[in-house]
This record gives sequence, C-alpha cells and structure tokens, in this order.
Amino acid sequence: MSDTIGPPGVEIIGSGRCLPDYKLTNADLEECMETSSEWIVQRTGISERRRADIANGERTSTISIKAINAALADAKVKASELDLLLVATMTPDSPTPSIGCIVANEIGAGHIGAMDINAACSGFVFTLSMADAMIRSGAYKTIGVIGADTITRFIDYSTAGRGAAILFGDGAGALILRRSNDTSKGMIAHRMHSDGDGGKHLFIPSSELDFPEGVPYDESLCNTVQMNGKAVFKFAVNKFQQVIADTLDDAGLTADEVDHFICHQANSRILESARERFGIPQEKLLVNIDIYGNTVAGSVPLVFAELAESDRIRPGDKVMFLAFGAGLTWGSSLWQL
Ligand code: UT7
Repeated sequence: MSDTIGPPGVEIIGSGRCLPDYKLTNADLEECMETSSEWIVQRTGISERRRADIANGERTSTISIKAINAALADAKVKASELDLLLVATMTPDSPTPSIGCIVANEIGAGHIGAMDINAACSGFVFTLSMADAMIRSGAYKTIGVIGADTITRFIDYSTAGRGAAILFGDGAGALILRRSNDTSKGMIAHRMHSDGDGGKHLFIPSSELDFPEGVPYDESLCNTVQMNGKAVFKFAVNKFQQVIADTLDDAGLTADEVDHFICHQANSRILESARERFGIPQEKLLVNIDIYGNTVAGSVPLVFAELAESDRIRPGDKVMFLAFGAGLTWGSSLWQL
C-alpha cells in the first residue's frame, strides 16, 4: 500500500482498441433486406459497422486480446503487472471459460483474478466503476478493464431482423487503471441502474422459456436479437438525460464543467437529444457511430481510446462515461483524469 492517507486515487494510464477489419456498409444491407442507406443514416446516423470474421476464428476473445495488448503497450505496463482483469461482455465465445480467463492466459497475466460482467451496453461503465472501488479499497493496484462484444452473430440479416441489423457492429476497447498517490484522480460520482421489467424490449431468446409474456413463441427467432426499437428509444432518451442530471447533481457540477461526455453509441438521435438538453458542444461529445455502429459494451472504451489517440483528453480533465442498454440497464461513471 502507498503512503497516502485515506483511500488512494485511481489513474487511467493507458487505452487500446480493436475493430474487426470487415466493414458491413449500408449498401451491403440494402442487398439483403428491404431498407435504404438514406433511411438508416437519417434514423440512426450509421453508415457502416464492423463484423467479426467468425469463419476465420475472430471472436470476442481475439478482439479483446488485441485491445488489452494495445492498452498495455500504451500504458507501458507488462501483462504480468496486472493484478485483476475484468471484462464487460454479453457475447462470450461460449458460456465458459469466461473471456477474462481466456485473455488473462493468452496475454501472460499469470493466475490473477479474471471474470466477465454482463450488463449489456452498460457493462463497461458499470465495470469501470467497480474497478475504481476495488483499487480504492486497497486490495488491487493495477486492473485491466475490457469492453468487448461480437453481437453480429446474433443478428438476422433479413427484412424481419432489420431493426437490429442496421444498428449493431462488433468491437473491443480496453483501459488500464492504476492506484495513484494523487487522491484527486479517479471516480467522483457514479450511478448504476436496472429495470428487469423492461428486459422484454431487448432480448436474445434461446428457447421457448425466454419469450416474454405476450410475445408468441417462434423458433426461428431463437438466438437472434429481438428489439422493440421504439420502446428502447424512448427509454434511452429519457434515462440518458436523467442519469446525466443525477450524476452532475451528485458531484455538485454543471454540464459545462465536464470536459468530455464519453457516451454509448446507440443512435445519433439519442446522443443529439442529450447534447441539446445540456447545451453540450459537439467537441465534448464524440460521435463515432457513423463508422462503427452500436458495439454494445465495446462502444464506450472505443470512444475513450479514440480521444486518447488523438490527444484530446488531458490529465485533470473531467470525463463522464455514460451508457444504457438491454436488461434494461443504465448508468454513469464521472472521473477526474
Ligand atoms: O444499445 C441500446 C440498443 N438499442 C437502441 O438504442 C435502439 C433504439 N431504437 C432505435 O434506434 C430506433 O427505434 C430504430 C432505428 C431501431 C428504428 O427507428 P424508428 O424511427 O423507431 O422506426 P420504427 O421502428 O418506428 O419504424 C418506422 C417505419 C416503419 O414503417 P411504417 O410502419 O411507418 O410503414 C418500419 O417498418 O420504418 C420502417 N423501418 C425501416 N425501414 C427501412 C423499420 N426499420 C427499417 C429499416 N429500413 N431498417
């Protein structure tokens, strides 16, 4: 333990990302379902998304390994220095072993604690908040946090599945967190919420038992994303704004005191609604959904890594990580870097 008095600070010392090479464009979707690029861009802001090459072995574990290795290189930290690895994902390669265990082994992190956390699109934000608390407790010094999903393998690329097909893409991002003697660094406030009753609006059934009341069983829908787009849209606009207001309130800050809003990329119209409500200038809320789509737990760390790579975030900045998604879940993690 360091010589600090009270709980230590927590510093984000590196970030990395991995996107599959294969691009699925709106034009590709026009070929396999009734839709138009114009409709997709207007309703979602998305032009293309990435898709893991499953046939050649690309999946959640492989993109996670690349993302964390990039983050370790950025942080100038060896895998053997990690003492915990947390992975936010809802699309592990298989139910067990976890992506955490696979990645820890592959990168040479030794026999450290490693596990997956599933809160769908909110997973990375929840995991980041938990990692901060674990470091501040004094129990851990250096934690790797990954957000990764390859959800496109659960998409029906026909007209029947077009609501979800246009939105989702695959990707992974990772951060390295380290205990710091500077107690001003780390999480300032956070929120974690869930509403299981809303789970019926966004789910992936694997059997008849998984169909919510009122949704007739149809075997052909199993193992594909089922989404009530309108209901999720309403929920997202509402909770996204609410959680920003609550988090600012908890921290005693105003929106203009936050340097970056690092947001889950679900639909550019949802992001726009929050920007307008809080008067957030465009340069403080990076939108990259146009080229990556909605990458589930990957989206928030992908935004952070892009900002870091282009030197747009600096020590001392206040950044609010935000996400909402299936479960239903929503939350925030407000940090001083
Ligand atoms: O991480 C969280 C995950 N999910 C979300 O955040 C999703 C939130 N929801 C959304 O982003 C939007 O609801 C969608 C983009 C999925 C859909 O947009 P919408 O404006 O809510 O469209 P809608 O479902 O109300 O459909 C409007 C019309 C319908 O036609 P009619 O009934 O008005 O004739 C649909 O059949 O647009 C039609 N439509 C499409 N047309 C072309 C629905 N999907 C498509 C499509 N291409 N892909």
